[in-house]
Amino acid sequence: MKRPKVIINVASSLDGFIASNKGALHLSSREDLERVHSLRSSVDAILVGKNTVIIDNPLLTVRYITSRKKHPLRVILDSKGSIPIDSKVIKEQKKYPTVIFVSRTHPIEKRDEFNNLGVTIIPVGEEEKTNFLDLIQILEHLKNDFNVKTLLVEGGSTIISQFIQRRLVDKMFIYFAPILVGHLGGIPLLRDELKNTLKKTLSVKITQTKRVGEGILVSMTLLDEEKK
Ligand SMILES: NC(=O)c1ccc[n+]([C@@H]2O[C@H](COP(=O)([O-])OP(=O)(O)OC[C@H]3O[C@@H](n4cnc5c(N)ncnc54)[C@H](OP(=O)(O)O)[C@@H]3O)[C@@H](O)[C@H]2O)c1
Repeated sequence: MKRPKVIINVASSLDGFIASNKGALHLSSREDLERVHSLRSSVDAILVGKNTVIIDNPLLTVRYITSRKKHPLRVILDSKGSIPIDSKVIKEQKKYPTVIFVSRTHPIEKRDEFNNLGVTIIPVGEEEKTNFLDLIQILEHLKNDFNVKTLLVEGGSTIISQFIQRRLVDKMFIYFAPILVGHLGGIPLLRDELKNTLKKTLSVKITQTKRVGEGILVSMTLLDEEKK
């Protein structure tokens, strides 16, 4: 079965941080937000991890641009179903439906509350090595149950690392904002767990670089190990 096409989009400081230890970073410019929302309007679903919902509380809707397309499905990976019930992504279910993938083996903390609000809960298995939800099963559900042909993965760091580790990425956009996080420290674009599993550095093919607002947008594809 052909899986949905997977696009990663992330905004980073020039020194590779996607958030600071002191909280959210204002990385996206107005021009970049318009680009991201135009990208959102071109896909069938937008996926983020549990921590991004808890920390950033994103709406995951299409704004800043006018779009005539059906609104993309909002997808959250949250093994224990623990995101706050008043998260923005849970609101306005009829207009902007949300699906939460949870673990088949864990008790789900807020199953009834989510069901009452019309949020779809889908249990899946876990990957043996990582104990994270199985991305292949998730992609299969998105394709078969929701007709998702293109999926936009927006973060955070753990989610992006896992998609890269499983080589489930067709295209990646990194928007480098003119910011250095430096001594503040923060959340790196990729997690240590990924670095530990790579034998060498991971090569990418840069397909385009473009000035967007005050930052630089780098478009890339991942290269197979043997093509290095
Ligand atoms: N700059 C940007 O573009 C951008 C975009 C988004 C987020 N962010 C930042 O990223 C930070 C959050 O990143 P994060 O790495 O802490 O968390 P995250 O990637 O948002 O969420 C990770 C969590 O998702 C759950 N999960 C379930 N299945 C998974 C799978 N197959 N692979 C990976 N995770 C899975 C896990 O929790 P369970 O085991 O409990 O399910 C995991 O701990 C925030 O600070 C946010 O501001 C930045």
